[in-house]
Amino acid sequence: MLERYGHGGDMLTAERLYGLPRGAFADFSSNMNPWGPPAGAREAMMAAWEEIAAYPDPAARKLRTALSARHGVPVESIWVGNGAAELIDLVMRSMRPETVTLLAPGFAEYETAVRRAGGVPEFVPLTAERDFLPEPASLIGSAKRTGAVLIGNPNNPTGRLLRNDVIDELIHTARRIVFDEAFLDFAPDERQRTVIRHASSHSNVFVIRSLTKFYSIPGLRLGYVVAHPEAIGRIRELAVPWSVNAIAMAVGAAALQDEPFAAHTLAWLPPERAWLSGSLSRLGLKVFPSDANFLLFQFPPDGAWRVKQAQSALGAAGVLIRDASLFRGLDDTYCRVAVKRREDNERLVEALRNWMEAGGGQDGRGA
Ligand SMILES: Cc1ncc(COP(=O)(O)O)c(C=O)c1O
Repeated sequence: MLERYGHGGDMLTAERLYGLPRGAFADFSSNMNPWGPPAGAREAMMAAWEEIAAYPDPAARKLRTALSARHGVPVESIWVGNGAAELIDLVMRSMRPETVTLLAPGFAEYETAVRRAGGVPEFVPLTAERDFLPEPASLIGSAKRTGAVLIGNPNNPTGRLLRNDVIDELIHTARRIVFDEAFLDFAPDERQRTVIRHASSHSNVFVIRSLTKFYSIPGLRLGYVVAHPEAIGRIRELAVPWSVNAIAMAVGAAALQDEPFAAHTLAWLPPERAWLSGSLSRLGLKVFPSDANFLLFQFPPDGAWRVKQAQSALGAAGVLIRDASLFRGLDDTYCRVAVKRREDNERLVEALRNWMEAGGGQDGRGA
């Protein structure tokens, strides 16, 4: 199983499982922008070389100033973390809610963070019948009952964005609401959709962002949280000093300025996602609508194909896919794949076609 440690993108496990060198794989199991990291990231990294002999700025002033200018919110409303994952954990620990509304399926770290902070999750189920959009009445009903809501916008593994009216209602009804916007940079209308401005002015709203997906720097780790300055103060009290290193801060600041990179990514994604979705549908797979850089699809429930067999067969052929049955609420007919460059996407479609035509099965025949 590729997700031995709970996530996709584990290349060491892939090498050991499938006996191929890292460079031989096309990795669809984690959702990085295939155009990244931006060219300026390498220069920024080399320039920051001199800085590693000193502690990084414990207040992350330059990066927070750049983020403040980008989003039009005060520096005091921003804190940075070693990836969004660290901030999900910190935000939950700063709140310590007894109960937290989560969507199922959703990113597994939410549940882990809730439980680690001593809370109990209340799951709102998402269904294929609704294309994995939450049913507003159940979501709002749960938000009224619980101490906090933690929700991906867009959600992972479904890639769906919340409706604006649902967002507004959540902001007005939830005691505390955390929007994980780790993948929102991939939405063309990110500036209209983000609730960052609400977060800096409403004491119950928190936004978590990641730079690791859009800028393809998951190995470097970088994220930030936007909230009311008092809430940021509580988060900072719990944070480990210097958790974001000097190179990550320098690369992050450079990446945020790279507008051509962002524009290129935003122009590339919608047609490529449509191409991949169409190609997978033509294989007889049910592909769900997505607003993000990944797609959730389903093998026909009455067919012989199951995701674990698909994962091992495609893995042996150097194509890594995400077993979505590991997400709460999905069964072994579900699979998630990143949208990558065309040649890689063709390789995925071809490998899946071969395996499906061979009838599925354990041994990788035909893939
Ligand atoms: C929805 C979601 N939020 C946050 C994260 C963590 O991001 P980071 O790499 O910034 O820690 C992930 C990683 O897969 C994710 O899928």
